[in-house]
Amino acid sequence: MKVAIDGPAAAGKTTLARALAQKLGFLFVPTGAMYRAAALAVQRGCNLQTGEITVGPEGTVFLNGENVTAQLSHPSLDELSSALAVDEAVRARLVALQRQIAQGCDVVMEGRDIGTVVLPHAEVKIFLWATVEERARRRWRDQGGHYEEVLAAIQARDARDSTRAHSPLRPAPDAVILDTTDRSEHEVLQQALELVEERRARLAR
Ligand code: DC
Repeated sequence: MKVAIDGPAAAGKTTLARALAQKLGFLFVPTGAMYRAAALAVQRGCNLQTGEITVGPEGTVFLNGENVTAQLSHPSLDELSSALAVDEAVRARLVALQRQIAQGCDVVMEGRDIGTVVLPHAEVKIFLWATVEERARRRWRDQGGHYEEVLAAIQARDARDSTRAHSPLRPAPDAVILDTTDRSEHEVLQQALELVEERRARLAR
């Protein structure tokens, strides 16, 4: 079974996908982290054509064999990864890799284009949403700084991620939209688990 979780920045995709994968015993693939690893490669002046990005257990990401997971949440990579994700060649390479990773295994994959492009036949598709103010509050609580600046950065990223020409952020027609604005992480996880169980029951019929 493939579970696709898409949604805008700071909607809680990684938290939900990680917890869901753990509960279900599925592989967890954070594709945002893969775009961030590509941005880190650019930041380091590495050649993107030859740089190798791989995903290990529990969403760890490796760049040329080095575990770079802890560096990927650095705010400098927010903007750079979003800008890089506009590039068709970068997307083509990462999408091929994401499909290869998912092939033949149960997976929870999160990103922007999983349900629409990467895994269009995923059995469960969730589009995770929250108001931009709530998402900025969550990011600000985690990272600090000035709330207004965090809000402006998320608004800019939302605009770029959803208006780009290739694979823009949008819900797949068959995605279930989960509004997390007033919900706890636990409530969202329970709802996602129910969706998976419902789908499993329908497939078993
Ligand atoms: O989910 P994130 O914030 O870690 O993602 C960083 C950037 O990567 C995001 O602004 C857009 C891009 N991205 C993408 O274009 N497609 C994906 N499947 C995942 C992320």
